[in-house]
Amino acid sequence: MSAQISLERRVGELVAEDFRNAHVFSRFGIDFCCGGGRSLASACERAGAEPTEVLHALSQLAAEGTPDDALAKLPLGELIEHIEATHHKYIRDTAPLLLEYAQKMVRAHGEHYEEIKPLAGWIRALMDDLLPHLQKEEQILFPAIRALSQGQEFNACFGHIGNPIRAMEYEHNEAGQILAKLQQLTNHYQAPEHACTTWRVCYATLAEFEADLHRHIHLENNLLFPKALALVD
Ligand SMILES: [Fe+2]
Ligand SMILES: [Fe+2]
Repeated sequence: MSAQISLERRVGELVAEDFRNAHVFSRFGIDFCCGGGRSLASACERAGAEPTEVLHALSQLAAEGTPDDALAKLPLGELIEHIEATHHKYIRDTAPLLLEYAQKMVRAHGEHYEEIKPLAGWIRALMDDLLPHLQKEEQILFPAIRALSQGQEFNACFGHIGNPIRAMEYEHNEAGQILAKLQQLTNHYQAPEHACTTWRVCYATLAEFEADLHRHIHLENNLLFPKALALVD
């Protein structure tokens, strides 16, 4: 059960307690990353957000209960299945759409708006990182975790399981850095007044993609990987 949510609590602390709070802060323009050490009251003031509305959104989320409770109880093989069926599938389904929207935007507006070409470039870079990342997890790391969790031997070409885990965490950070660039270029996925429909759909899809990726990385970094490491301690 989480501690009481109040304006005196620190923003970073609230995100550490429940990562979904970060989505609420994003919505209100509250900096939860570099400004995570501030109290919620001072963060709201800086962002020009109404504190009662932010508190209301945070308590609503807390009342829903954390979706992690159920996932934390799953055997590791089932947690992996959930990650693959939900989040890996989402990336594979959505990456081609985002690449297509970005290309359309380059063709229609690339010459007139300076943010469009870099945006398309970073979307491509994100997918070029993520698609091989999924494959590495599915073909190398996840089978090893499955085997470990069932007490089976596995062929470890990579030595200790901590090695591929560290490599995947490093790639998660890289994806996070690209998302930060995308946020910056898109003004946190707020389409400008003059944006056409593809532009608006592209930004909305990017915002959804980011939320899904945060959830996905959270499940791997904070649930799956620590449990896998505990098996070899
Ligand atoms: Fe993954
Ligand atoms: Fe991953």
